[in-house]
Amino acid sequence: MSSVSPRAGYSLCLDIISLVLSLLVFMSTVRAGLGSTWSASEICPLGHFPCGNVSVCLPQVLHCNGQEDCPNGADEEHCGDNSGWANFFDRTIQIPLPRDLSTDCFLQQYPDRCQCIELELQCVRISLNSVPHVSPNVTSLSLKSNEIRVLPENAFSRYTELQRLFLQDNCISSVSDRAFNGLFKLQKLSLSQNCITLLKHGVFADLHQLNWLILDDNPLKTITVNTFTGLRSLFFLSMVNTSLERLPSSRLCRHMPFLNWLDFEGNCIQRLNYSTLLSCDELTVLSLRANHIKRLPENTFQSLHVLGELDLSSNQIKELPLNIFRGLQSLQILNLSQNPLSHIHLSQFDHLTQLQSLGLEGVEIPDIQTRMFQSMKNLSYIYFKKFQYCSYAPHVRKCKPNSDGLSSFEDLLASVILRVSVWVMAFLTCFGNLFVIGMRTLIRAENNLHAICIKVLCCADCLMGVYLFFVGIYDVKFRGEYNKNAHVWMESLECRTIGFLAMLSSEVSVMLLTYLTLEKFLVIVFPLSHLRPGKNQTFTILAVIWLVGISIATVPLLNDELFGNYYGRNGVCFPLHSERVEKPTAKDST
Ligand SMILES: *[C@@H]1O[C@H](CO)[C@@H](O)[C@H](O)[C@H]1NC(C)=O
Ligand SMILES: *[C@@H]1O[C@H](CO)[C@@H](O)[C@H](O)[C@H]1NC(C)=O
Ligand SMILES: *[C@@H]1O[C@H](CO)[C@@H](O)[C@H](O)[C@H]1NC(C)=O
Ligand SMILES: *[C@@H]1O[C@H](CO)[C@@H](O)[C@H](O)[C@H]1NC(C)=O
Ligand SMILES: *[C@@H]1O[C@H](CO)[C@@H](O)[C@H](O)[C@H]1NC(C)=O
Ligand SMILES: *[C@@H]1O[C@H](CO)[C@@H](O)[C@H](O)[C@H]1NC(C)=O
Repeated sequence: MSSVSPRAGYSLCLDIISLVLSLLVFMSTVRAGLGSTWSASEICPLGHFPCGNVSVCLPQVLHCNGQEDCPNGADEEHCGDNSGWANFFDRTIQIPLPRDLSTDCFLQQYPDRCQCIELELQCVRISLNSVPHVSPNVTSLSLKSNEIRVLPENAFSRYTELQRLFLQDNCISSVSDRAFNGLFKLQKLSLSQNCITLLKHGVFADLHQLNWLILDDNPLKTITVNTFTGLRSLFFLSMVNTSLERLPSSRLCRHMPFLNWLDFEGNCIQRLNYSTLLSCDELTVLSLRANHIKRLPENTFQSLHVLGELDLSSNQIKELPLNIFRGLQSLQILNLSQNPLSHIHLSQFDHLTQLQSLGLEGVEIPDIQTRMFQSMKNLSYIYFKKFQYCSYAPHVRKCKPNSDGLSSFEDLLASVILRVSVWVMAFLTCFGNLFVIGMRTLIRAENNLHAICIKVLCCADCLMGVYLFFVGIYDVKFRGEYNKNAHVWMESLECRTIGFLAMLSSEVSVMLLTYLTLEKFLVIVFPLSHLRPGKNQTFTILAVIWLVGISIATVPLLNDELFGNYYGRNGVCFPLHSERVEKPTAKDST
């Protein structure tokens, strides 16, 4: 090795600059892929939400407050979705206005530890083991959390004025088939959180006025059509977590013509007969979430013409018959999330023209196509397993997951930091490397071959700068409406080309750096050896490095079948593994 001369100092300096630049490029790429945790919603400060595609942020309280605050009215559109149920709830059920708070008791006879207000009585958690004796004109009776085990014949027949009866959390195990005799005015009945294994035929036969029946959390196992005889006003039936293994095979709603709301969440139902729901003409909400349904016959939902919400999530449905949704012209919310669906037909959703929200979380759709979602013109919300799928539903207003860490529904580069760093890095890389090339040319280096290697390295780095410039330009071009263009963009020749450039740049840089390091290493370990590459060898090595780089970067372009759209997997056209699951936050409700 020669002694350190000023020239050697210069060239060392330049080497360090170019190495640092290469490193920076590398780190920015890696960082873009792995480190960025900013999503589009963070364009707005905490506690604010964005006004649709417009870059306006408003405080969260203005969201869905009944007044249009965004210039485009986006804050008042489709406010119902996150609720779903609550939405229907408000529309179908009149919530009574709070009455004057009177504490007078109009009942003459009731156990000491109960609380009486007007004609309503609450006997909660006072260890009652049978139905207490109270004045017959009681209208509301709550016996929650007591120790009543048996409901005998005529248990309530004295209380003919009763409108609401709450018997939750008693571990009632035996219910006489005449237990509710005489309750002709009863409107709400809750038997949830008990130990009821059997409800005999006709047990509710007198409850002609009953609107609400809640049987949640009982180990019921079976029900028959005749269990519900007499419930001719029933509106709401909830049987969550009742261990049901199957439903009656035919006409479940025969005795409940006005049944509107049916909830079978968390049972063990394995299949539905096509005629089970045949007479449920008034049904607006049907939940079969978290059951063991594997298969659904084609006509299962054919008569549910007014159904607004259908929840089939968390089942074991592998395949949906082509026309399963044919009769559901009014359906607005459909949740198919967390099913091992293997195939979705191209025209699967064609009949759901009114659909506003579609849940497909956790569903792998390998053959996803824009055609699948086209006919749902009113679709505003769609929930997918992957952000990439969002680009196949370009007309939908809101898609989750909202971001893959790089792009968001609105923008190619989701975070401001990412955008700024793309431009800064593009300039730094391009001009920094050009500067180094220039300096290297002006200042004659001692080791000419080495200088050539550095120049070639700079050229390779420059390609990365060009790539970053293009990413920045397309980001600006698609600002605010990225998802509409995402699919076309990722399939485009431009995307593939810049992806190719970036790949080529990083491969050549890495190989060159490895080569230079090896060379330096040899110089240090064997300072006096003649093991130095000559001019021809160096040129050969450089050529080989470029050839290898170009081939590796070209292979995915040639073989689409094997690699798919290798470069167009994400918006920045560079194969980064950046898939991420969005953590739901309060802000996401916008
Ligand atoms: C936002 O979307 C609406 C339609 O939803 C469109 O009319 C409007 O031009 C868009 N605005 C911008 C800035 O993209
Ligand atoms: C409730 O019934 C009792 C008789 O048991 C009667 O004296 C009382 O006036 C009734 N109260 C009301 C408000 O009807
Ligand atoms: C389901 O109901 C059983 C009683 O039937 C109860 O022990 C269990 O905690 C309930 N499970 C859930 C998730 O509510
Ligand atoms: C469905 O119900 C019909 C009529 O009750 C019955 O004949 C048929 O066997 C049932 N099918 C299945 C698969 O249970
Ligand atoms: C759909 O169902 C899944 C699983 O049951 C649930 O996590 C998700 O919140 C539902 N989606 C909507 C929009 O209700
Ligand atoms: C979309 O919804 C609006 C009301 O929200 C309704 O008037 C319109 O008919 C629906 N469009 C289609 C294609 O059903």
